Amino acid sequence: MRIIIINASPRTNGLTATILHKIETALIQKNADVEYFDLCLLSMSQCKGCCTCYKTGHCFINDDAEMLSERIKKADGLILGSPTYASNVSGHMKLMIDRGHFVIEQSLKGKYCVSVATGENYGNKKTSRILNDLILYSGGYISDSVTINAPFNDTAPVLKKLDKLSLRSADRLYDAILNLRIYPLQKIFHRIIFSVGIKPFVIKKGNDYKGVTNRWKETGIGVI
Ligand SMILES: Cc1cc2nc3c(=O)[nH]c(=O)nc-3n(C[C@H](O)[C@H](O)[C@H](O)COP(=O)(O)O)c2cc1C
Repeated sequence: MRIIIINASPRTNGLTATILHKIETALIQKNADVEYFDLCLLSMSQCKGCCTCYKTGHCFINDDAEMLSERIKKADGLILGSPTYASNVSGHMKLMIDRGHFVIEQSLKGKYCVSVATGENYGNKKTSRILNDLILYSGGYISDSVTINAPFNDTAPVLKKLDKLSLRSADRLYDAILNLRIYPLQKIFHRIIFSVGIKPFVIKKGNDYKGVTNRWKETGIGVI
């Protein structure tokens, strides 16, 4: 069971990292194979908006964004954590989303995911929604979704809550992967989004989106 954890806070020991590391520990205790990434320690350039990845199946900038996409492709589970910045995800998370071509390639198809959105006062629900939409629109299942607030730089008041939530997330993710859990409503949502929104759009693009359709063939989405 391979699980990737991604921390999108620029602080490697903040609230987001604290809960993500707790989930990591719980998963390792269950014998899962876990890889943890701090996005701020990776090398990722901004998306140039050239759209060549849709044609070739990969970005022409060969940096850690491509490495991470490849790691995610091989994983069974993905945990995305982001602090709330101005009622949104952090810049690090947005950069990964832009570079990852997740939605169009359906990169999270059949993968089980957890979102973690932290904040201090208002807006973490919006952050959570952005992460959950990314998962759902990319074909992934949301196995758990955590939102938590704490005073900036002070996790002490929420430590007990962090322990409880991290165990819940680890249990839900592990069980979902182990039992190939089916989420009927999420499955219906995937079908609608793919058949009404994504597929007709990509087919119209023809050769310019050959990299995308090749990826669909590889992952058994199998159209065209
Ligand atoms: C630039 C910036 C913007 C922020 N905007 C919000 C916000 O809109 N809502 C909120 O609840 N917290 C906001 N915060 C607080 C962080 O989301 C919060 O402290 C979070 O837990 C930090 O996570 P970290 O410790 O993992 O870095 C902001 C913090 C920074 C640095």
